[in-house]
Amino acid sequence: MTDTAPATLTLTRPDDWHLHVRDGAAMASVVPATAAQFARAIIMPNLRPPITTAEQAVAYRDRIRAAVPAGVAFEPLMVLYLTDNTPADEAARAKAMGAVAFKLYPAGATTNSDAGVTDLRKTYKVLEAMQREGLVLCVHGEVTDSEVDVFDRENAFIDDKLIPLRRDFPELKIVFEHITTKEAAQYVTEADRFVGATITPQHLLYNRNAIFMGGVRPHYYCLPILKREEHRLALVQAATSGSPKFFLGTDSAPHASHLKEHSSGCAGCYTAPCAIELYAEAFEAAGALDKLEGFASFFGPDYYGLPRNTDRITLAREDWVVPESLPFGEAVIRPLRGGETLRWRLR
Ligand code: DOR
Ligand code: ZN
Repeated sequence: MTDTAPATLTLTRPDDWHLHVRDGAAMASVVPATAAQFARAIIMPNLRPPITTAEQAVAYRDRIRAAVPAGVAFEPLMVLYLTDNTPADEAARAKAMGAVAFKLYPAGATTNSDAGVTDLRKTYKVLEAMQREGLVLCVHGEVTDSEVDVFDRENAFIDDKLIPLRRDFPELKIVFEHITTKEAAQYVTEADRFVGATITPQHLLYNRNAIFMGGVRPHYYCLPILKREEHRLALVQAATSGSPKFFLGTDSAPHASHLKEHSSGCAGCYTAPCAIELYAEAFEAAGALDKLEGFASFFGPDYYGLPRNTDRITLAREDWVVPESLPFGEAVIRPLRGGETLRWRLR
């Protein structure tokens, strides 16, 4: 905390441009946390089975809306899961039901990605249709080749997949999701207006040492994995630069505690209960609190072609302890920073 820090910080209400809420009882446990902070969120479709059709997205949206507490305004923005077999006309159906994007998971890249794309060429017809409809392609930008070092998979994706994809679809809107490296930040900075990127709070606050601090820390394990400090610094620079290409996407990815604290623990940090506070901490540490509102509340809707929110939130400088454990359906979940004190609190 610096002496010059303001006692409160008021922002246009932010949106979360990358979020996992799961389904069923687990979903009912986590949706209120996001709805308390954000006006809208892009809902990732990696359920089991995945949300691959507009019809499934409508039904999933209804279930999410039913989990929003009474009196709270929150709009789920739907995304369809792209597969090798997605028909080209699914793009028009997606657009018609209000979906904003398709998600590209390279097959095997992460949680519930086995139905993902094995060869981008198989999706070219639907990508053409998306380009025409102005639908966004959200990409999990990692190659899946087990020969490629896990810390290098994002860089390999840029060279092997993203560059050829953009050459073939120069006007397709592409969000490079949850970027983790200086190379990705630089690539997006230099790209044209069709390319944007989201950045998570954990990648702004931590480097890969956090996963091994005094023993293996499964709650810091997510994909793409945390990288070296030089990369974290580049992400902070990008997020606080004022460039409209970088915007907030928590990638809050809830998994029951017992499945993270496991011999093969699930990837994902659950940040929804304190997401905007974590971003405020990261921006404050960079001396850039004045840049938070653009990143959190303006650049995402501008990129997606949606109106900015008009109501506001206030963060107060007030110590509070993030709960160590919260209900998660029948199980429990440990949020990132559970049991620790944060210095910003959403009023
Ligand atoms: O850490 C992650 N968790 N990364 C992803 O890409 C997926 C997510 C999840 O769904 O758990
Ligand atoms: Zn994700």
